[in-house]
Amino acid sequence: MSRIKMKIDDREVTAKEGQSVLEVAREAGIEIPTLCHDERLEPFGGCRLCMVEVQTGGWAQLVVSCVYEAKEGLVVRTRSEEIDKIRRVLLELLMAHAPTSPQLLAMGEVYGARPDRFEPDPSFCVHCGLCVRYCNEVKQLDAIGFIDRGVNKEISFVPEIAAAACEGCKECFPLCPTSYLQAAFVRVEALSRKLPRA
Ligand code: SF4
Ligand code: FES
Repeated sequence: MSRIKMKIDDREVTAKEGQSVLEVAREAGIEIPTLCHDERLEPFGGCRLCMVEVQTGGWAQLVVSCVYEAKEGLVVRTRSEEIDKIRRVLLELLMAHAPTSPQLLAMGEVYGARPDRFEPDPSFCVHCGLCVRYCNEVKQLDAIGFIDRGVNKEISFVPEIAAAACEGCKECFPLCPTSYLQAAFVRVEALSRKLPRA
């Protein structure tokens, strides 16, 4: 496998073909914040918190590092005034939905994000998709999925599958950066008591 040489934050790093910029940075011990990323899952590119600046051919552009592939000669910056501002605003928007999330509050502190900057709309699910993707890709159960679109998008357990599979699993619980998943499960559990076991 050919090796790729590139620079992240002024450090020379070596990448393997097919690796994302996020993976290369993490291997080099360089921190890039993520919300929707999990090494066990296919990259999703949903939260945008892992955005970095890359320079290719004299042009600088902002890219999502968890889905952007390492390239020979790439120059990457993981922090700048612009990057930090984007992360701050993204975190403030997320915190408007999940104001008590310890994960968001901790990241918010790093970027000076204020939990009360935007009008609160505590829907609690921040659509990171970790629970849905884990159940699909790792467990291959599809006991949970997204329903609806846009602002109405939310996760939903499939009661018939959840009744049979979730009680003994719950592996998605620790992935949720908010309290929403557990709350949704309590609801479906109550409902499933009325359903025959598959
Ligand atoms: S319930 Fe939690 S893990 Fe699932 S998509 Fe929403 S925030 Fe992410
Ligand atoms: S971690 Fe890259 S977009 Fe969420």
